Amino acid sequence: RDVLGSRGLGDVYKRQAQQGANYQIIPMPQEIVTAQGSPFILKSSVKILYPEGNEKMQRNAKFLADYLKTATGKDFAIEAGTEGKNAIVLALGTENENPESYQMKVTGDGITITGPTEAGVFYGIQSLRKSLPVAVGADISMPAVEINDAPRFGYRGAHFDTSRHFFTVDEVKTYIDMMALHNMNRFHWHITEDQGWRLEIKKYPKLTEIGSKRTETVIGRNSGEYDGKPYGGFYTQDEIRDVIAYAKERFVTIIPEIDLPGHQQAALAAYPDLGCTGGPYEVWTQWGISDDVICAGNDKAMQFLEDVLSEVIDLFPSEYIHIGGDECPKVRWKTCPKCQARIKAEGLKTDKQHTAEDRLQSYCMTRIEKFLNSKGRQIIGWDEILEGDVAPNATVMSWRGTSGGIKAAQMGHDVIMTPNLYCYFDYLQTADSKDEPLGIGGYVPVEKVYSLDPTAALTEEQAKHILGAQANLWTEYIATTEHAEYMILPRMAALAEVQWTQPEKKDYADFTQRLPRLIKFYQRDSMNYAKHIFDIQAEYTTTQEEDGSGSGAIVATLRTIDNACLLYTSPSPRD
Ligand code: ACM
Ligand code: ZN
Repeated sequence: RDVLGSRGLGDVYKRQAQQGANYQIIPMPQEIVTAQGSPFILKSSVKILYPEGNEKMQRNAKFLADYLKTATGKDFAIEAGTEGKNAIVLALGTENENPESYQMKVTGDGITITGPTEAGVFYGIQSLRKSLPVAVGADISMPAVEINDAPRFGYRGAHFDTSRHFFTVDEVKTYIDMMALHNMNRFHWHITEDQGWRLEIKKYPKLTEIGSKRTETVIGRNSGEYDGKPYGGFYTQDEIRDVIAYAKERFVTIIPEIDLPGHQQAALAAYPDLGCTGGPYEVWTQWGISDDVICAGNDKAMQFLEDVLSEVIDLFPSEYIHIGGDECPKVRWKTCPKCQARIKAEGLKTDKQHTAEDRLQSYCMTRIEKFLNSKGRQIIGWDEILEGDVAPNATVMSWRGTSGGIKAAQMGHDVIMTPNLYCYFDYLQTADSKDEPLGIGGYVPVEKVYSLDPTAALTEEQAKHILGAQANLWTEYIATTEHAEYMILPRMAALAEVQWTQPEKKDYADFTQRLPRLIKFYQRDSMNYAKHIFDIQAEYTTTQEEDGSGSGAIVATLRTIDNACLLYTSPSPRD
């Protein structure tokens, strides 16, 4: 695991006179055409030009200058302008129907990055920065090239649960920075939970006064023992606005999730009238799925949800608002007079497929959808919303595998694929868990993430409903930003290529050749990443034939992604 020492990456900071750029980056661009002619030398006299009066492009220029400063240690001047020798020209104007596309041309005279939008130019800048060597102090030589690039999917998501454990505004911003490095553009912010309500709501101050704090936390996996330490935290509305602005500068849209009608125990602790039994409730101190959910028969509770969502849409400009819908037990509803009265009044019936209580959840989701649609917003729900009568305009987030997403796409709903066996970054990255930090379990290695094709098993027409893919990071067992980074990196790199690169250009072996360069950036920027990707892979075959002939030896083939020197010993017969 001593990657820095044993793989020769320890000299990444060595001063070198001149180093070459390398366009074999992650995610792999759609087209890289090597051009004739001399390379461009990135000296400190190079200027960065942007179109006069365009603030977003000026900010893009500033991002580029910051990246170049980090990479080279040098300051690059930024000026308004459209052409010039010895310059990196950022421009708008290419005709491409994909708004996030870009073209990067490098000649001996300079570099131009052009896109139909500022977002496209931003991704060109990301590609440029990832092409650079990690070589502070060097003059960088950029071979002549033309890169034409555009993402496969418009929705390139990453989710972060900051409710089971709280992460500060700065830590959330770091997460968004990691997304930008991987060309991701949708941050799904899971901000309310049984174990903590983390969003200030002016109309319901107890949500944060009471709901953001738990008295203690269970130790390990619901061991029955507790740590005795009060735990809490929330974001003020000003902090939320600050994070939204930060994300927007990086072309990341934040999609907030108010998970309902389940996963609401912290809200019930603050306002017990919203539950079926009236409480008392506590902000949950253990993990799992709570039976105590919002009372869907209570108009006051429905009003509460609408009031909360009204403040949410005032804060978050996102077209999509995630309203959860997952893991909502129906036990309280079964015996609640209000819920049963609603079932009767609405004529909700049990049939072979669904119970009346399942249909009560559909009633709740549809009612909230209507409310949000009336405000010009669209809902996203987890795939449980397919159980019953799915809200008519809902976008479905498929997490229990891809089958929910496939079904939803076949029904004509838009879909975001986030199947747990490919996209749950809280799952472990190795089958050999003894040296891993405690986790929720599961096994999702980098190669598995990489193998996801979000449109597999769909017709061309149905595939149009797949908006994209997303990784989810649930944080029951992840309490620090170092641990969060360890779970995300480098799996985020594999997902980036699922989201961005066309399937015919994807190639896992090739990806693993490009990954060590990206990992140098993680190292340079003090990102904590998992190193299992460098582990020795073993494949075993036998020389025994089916008919019994052959020597019967086992042949072990050992390899690493970077052709490292492998030393092995054979056990003595006594072992
Ligand atoms: C989920 O993992 N409960 C969506
Ligand atoms: Zn009820």
